[in-house]
Amino acid sequence: MTTTITPLIAGNWKMNGLRGSLDELTALAGMLTTGEAPKAVVVICPPATILAAVARQGASSGILAGGQDCHAAPSGAHTGEVSAGMLADAGAQYVIVGHSERRANHGETDDQVRAKAEAAIGAGLKPIICVGETEAERDSGNAESVVATQLAGSVPDAGEQHEVIVAYEPVWAIGTGRTPSNDDIAQMHNSIRRQLVDRFGDKGATVRILYGGSLKPQNAREILRVENVNGGLVGGASLLAKDFYTIISAI
Ligand code: PGA
Repeated sequence: MTTTITPLIAGNWKMNGLRGSLDELTALAGMLTTGEAPKAVVVICPPATILAAVARQGASSGILAGGQDCHAAPSGAHTGEVSAGMLADAGAQYVIVGHSERRANHGETDDQVRAKAEAAIGAGLKPIICVGETEAERDSGNAESVVATQLAGSVPDAGEQHEVIVAYEPVWAIGTGRTPSNDDIAQMHNSIRRQLVDRFGDKGATVRILYGGSLKPQNAREILRVENVNGGLVGGASLLAKDFYTIISAI
């Protein structure tokens, strides 16, 4: 069943990127359109300031755009926030919610992440819902139960016609150059898959489960072939077109 899922590779630019960074997008578009057709859906999640430009520029080469976060409310007195509808209006089709940097730096809870995911779905976006354990949680043998709790609390009861994506990102692997073993990745992704199937039935078997955390050109081929890994969420290595393209081509 999982073999029929088209993989998705999303680049999370985080708080990196000015208008000049669109040159990287041009370079990536060039590689994607001249090389072999990508076997994955390709998404770039740039800072909100250049989202509309990325969406516009990516369209001709099949690169889709996503936000990095959204507010749960559709509008209102929330200075500095961006709603899911605004992201959609700027051309986004996806939005990351519950990234560990949001959970850690802004104290976002599973309930809040779930509300954001619901807002995203309501605005016609596909939420990429992030879960992942800290190093201490892994060391104490609790990684699977921590992720199971996050998953149960953060993933909304989306209708049949709505798509949600899960990204497993061990916090200790993000930006550190360290990754779990393939066996550990397989164990976690299988556990997430079981939970999704238990909860959503057949639909749970089709939900993409991305791996994220120090996914690089050097390890992409190995990690992206692990059972129930249906693509990746890439931070640092998505900033350079050449590296990101190598990861996409590893599928
Ligand atoms: P990284 O970040 O690839 O730089 O580890 C991944 C992420 O935070 O989504």
